[in-house]
Amino acid sequence: MIYSRTFLNALFIAIACHSGAQPTTLLTVNVDKPVAEVQPTMWGIFFEDINFAADGGLYAELVKNRSFEFDVPLMAWNEEGTDRFGMNNESGFTTILNRGATSDTNPRFARVTSNSEGSYSLTNTGFYGMGIKKGLSYALSMYIRPHDGNVYVRAELVDDQQRVIGSATIRTDDREWKRYQASITATETIKKASLKLTFIGKGSIDIDIVSLFPPDTWKNKPGGLRADLVQLLYDMKPGFLRFPGGCIVEGRDLSQRYQWKNTVGDVNDRPLLINRWNTEFRHRPTPDYFQTFGLGFYEYFELAEDLGAAPLPILSCGIACQFNTAEVVPMDQIDPYVQDALDLIEFANGDVTTKWGRLRKDMGHPAPFNLTMLGVGNEQWGPQYIERYIVFERAIKSKYPHIKIISGTGPFPDGELFDYATSELSALHAEIIDEHYYRPPLWFFENATRYDHYDRKGPKIFAGEYAAQSVAIASPENKNTWRCALSEAAFMTGLERNADVVHLASYAPLFGHAGRWQWTPDLIWFDNLSSYGTANYYVQKLFSTNAGTHVISVLNGTEKVAGQNNLYASGVWDDNRREVILKIVNANETPHTLMVKVSSKNRLDSQATATVLAGDLNAVNSFQMPTAIKPAESTVEVRRKSIQVQLPPSSLIVIKIKTM
Ligand code: AHR
Repeated sequence: MIYSRTFLNALFIAIACHSGAQPTTLLTVNVDKPVAEVQPTMWGIFFEDINFAADGGLYAELVKNRSFEFDVPLMAWNEEGTDRFGMNNESGFTTILNRGATSDTNPRFARVTSNSEGSYSLTNTGFYGMGIKKGLSYALSMYIRPHDGNVYVRAELVDDQQRVIGSATIRTDDREWKRYQASITATETIKKASLKLTFIGKGSIDIDIVSLFPPDTWKNKPGGLRADLVQLLYDMKPGFLRFPGGCIVEGRDLSQRYQWKNTVGDVNDRPLLINRWNTEFRHRPTPDYFQTFGLGFYEYFELAEDLGAAPLPILSCGIACQFNTAEVVPMDQIDPYVQDALDLIEFANGDVTTKWGRLRKDMGHPAPFNLTMLGVGNEQWGPQYIERYIVFERAIKSKYPHIKIISGTGPFPDGELFDYATSELSALHAEIIDEHYYRPPLWFFENATRYDHYDRKGPKIFAGEYAAQSVAIASPENKNTWRCALSEAAFMTGLERNADVVHLASYAPLFGHAGRWQWTPDLIWFDNLSSYGTANYYVQKLFSTNAGTHVISVLNGTEKVAGQNNLYASGVWDDNRREVILKIVNANETPHTLMVKVSSKNRLDSQATATVLAGDLNAVNSFQMPTAIKPAESTVEVRRKSIQVQLPPSSLIVIKIKTM
């Protein structure tokens, strides 16, 4: 008898009294003897500013190059009323000035000279346009210092035909630098709008830090984060939030490494840095990719707190990206790097009387952020890494013994570099090691048993970056296919089964800007107005929202379910929800009948819920069909502590059975 059906392509789940000729597998689940605890951190999120994930993405600022600090100072700004060479400038012109030594964080500003009554303008084109929504009032701000004469600014939101969809006027009332604010209410919804500043009057004014924010940010925080993107993360109920990467931690060279101290304090004093993905891939050049750090370490800790996720920062260990320059800091000059790590812990947790704890308080968060973990280095390898890791480990543990340290095994999940790192780190009794798997889907299916025979006394595992690559690592042809997502689900049953050693796991990268990404596949895609979760996102979400508290055994006879008959399964007990949760992958392209017998001293509810993800193996979600692959829920009858379900072809099913 079928209780409900809302399922794609006529796939279904049913209580099947007769399974017909379909293959049938019997699984037994032992609830009464949990085999391991599941860490609350188990399923988390990896964030890196790649694919315009921060500036142009999560950080809701709409103006690109707001401080004229890009290497081309008027990048993203179009001038009207002059020619490109500034020779024909009867209407007006802009000169870029440099404050020099008086400001090393924001040296440049623009001096705009207007010779007419409104023929000269500067238009900011945002991040491939600005997503503007009808009826919302946008917060415009800019610093202005009148230089001579009398000039004021008309600010307009314009659509791609230059039609005005909202405006405001800014007049100065001071001779010194002052921040002026105005509100612009949009009369239309436009995906690729621009901000046009027209200079009216005769004379010149200096302008800097031109900013435009939507009002509908996450929790309506001024200068905050894009709400639709945070919501997608929030819905995952992530156990942790890794930040800021990824290779961005390392930098192309050491001078371009991520330095957290440059990302806190007044947002206008955070020095701009080139984004290392700006020039990384010749086939995906993004010369306009810089980091303003508007989403810096304070905002990161706040975001983690809002998501209910444990913060997990990864810091430079003094080695720049080894695929790039591989520049290393000499051992006798490593102290500032180590000090950065110690100071970050103080910033997150320190008393408000300490230097960095006070800054946290001054920024608005007197309570500690409860940092408990810290990563040393991203994808480093070789003896240079081990040598530097040891110094960090000693310094951190001697001051903060309770902080768990995460060390890295390099970019690959096997091979010489990996073997060297794991053997060295094991010998050093490293607590948690970070492994990365960017591999074809087949690898993920085959590695569902990867940790079944792992040394239980060895370091714990952080599956810190993984994603099935449909074509090849970082190929621009990679797609977020259902095949990839399904293979990840199969692999994740192996991580869950081994939750005694696997303490954290996160898909990577997280975000991709539809027009300007550098790396694919990504968990979530967005454009200026909308966003959607991929099939991989729904897999992650099904695991993270059903993490449970204890691993329970799921057996086929006496065997783990890790590929026999192309089935993969794991199970958890949830102490809080008093629920048995099973995750089953049917990697067959045909239906499969599953009988599940639950051994439990408790009574089981008479109905279980089954959430199914399934579809064509090549199917992908897209802006046009954002939920081509999405979960469908139905109910299944529980009789005499047994259920019978028909697994659709190529499917992930999460079965939840409440106990009484
Ligand atoms: O996730 C994209 C990149 O892949 C990360 O920056 C890096 O750590 C890995 O190589």
